[in-house]
Amino acid sequence: MSIKPVKTAVFPVGGQGTRFLPATKAVPKEMLPVVDKPLLQYAVDEALAAGIERLVFVTARGKGALEEYFDLAWELTESLQRRGKTAELATLAATQLEPGRIAYVRQQEPAGLGHAVWCARHIVGREAFAVLLPDELLWNPAAPALKEMHDVYARVGGNVISVLEVPAEHTHRYGIVSPGAADGLVTQVKGLVEKPAPGTAPSRLAAIGRYILQPEVMDVLAAGKRGAGGEIQLTDAMAEMIGQQPFHALTFTGTRFDCGDKAGHIMANVALALERPDIGPAVRDWLRQQAV
Ligand code: G1P
Repeated sequence: MSIKPVKTAVFPVGGQGTRFLPATKAVPKEMLPVVDKPLLQYAVDEALAAGIERLVFVTARGKGALEEYFDLAWELTESLQRRGKTAELATLAATQLEPGRIAYVRQQEPAGLGHAVWCARHIVGREAFAVLLPDELLWNPAAPALKEMHDVYARVGGNVISVLEVPAEHTHRYGIVSPGAADGLVTQVKGLVEKPAPGTAPSRLAAIGRYILQPEVMDVLAAGKRGAGGEIQLTDAMAEMIGQQPFHALTFTGTRFDCGDKAGHIMANVALALERPDIGPAVRDWLRQQAV
C-alpha cells in the first residue's frame, strides 16, 4: 500500500506568551519578528516546503493579528504598486495564501498542547496530519525539518516526530523518547514521557515540536486525560499509540532555536541576521567590537 502524502498541518498558536510580557500584551508572541519576518512565518514556510496544502491555526482570544497577517492587504498592495515598490511587494507573497488554505479554530481554554491539537479534529478529518510548534524555529534551509520527516514518513508510515539530544539537566522540559533500534538518524520510539522528573528520563532524545501523526491520536485525545502540569498532553496521547502503529523519531541535523525563551529568540535573531547579505556584515562588525 502506498502512503498518501500529508496535506494538512496544525499550528497551535493559542498560547498567551507570558514569557514575553509586556511585548505580548497586545501582540501575539508568534508575531514577534525574527529579523524581519514574524516567528510564525518560519513554521509556515517550513510546512509549505514539505508540500502542506491546508493550514489550521488553533488560536485563542487576542490572536486576531494572525488573521490580519495572513490576509490579502489590498490597500497596502495597491499603495505599494502605485509607488513602484516591487521588492516590498514581493515580501508579502508568502503571507497571502490562496483563500481557503488557512482555517482558524479557537481553543477556548488553555488546557494543554493535546487539547489544542484536538480542537482541530473536524478540520483535519481522518487523514495523517502534521503539527508544528512555531516557538521552535528549526533552521535548515537546505533540508527543512518537516520535509525531511515527510521523506522518512513516506518510507516507514505511521507516526514520525523530530527529536534532538538535549543535555541531561534539560530533559524535564520536554517530551522524551524511550528509544528502540536506530538506523542512522531514524530511531524507533518504544515509549514517550512528558517532562520526566530530573534523573528519570529514559534518554536525552527530546521532541522538538514537529510531528506527523495518524488521525487515531484525535480519538485518544478525546478522552481528555490530564497529564504533566494538569494539562492534556500530546505526548501522552502519542504514547498510547506506540505498539499499535509504527512510531519513529528523526534526529534533526540543522540549527534549533527555542524562541519560546528570550535568550533563544535573541540568538535566532542574531544568527539569521548574520546569514543575511544585506545586514549580516554590519551585525558581524558590531559583534566583533563587543568585548564579551
Ligand atoms: C511542548 C511539548 C513537549 C515538547 C516541547 C518542545 O512543551 O509538550 O513534549 O518537547 O513542546 O518545545 P512546552 O514547551 O509547550 O511546555
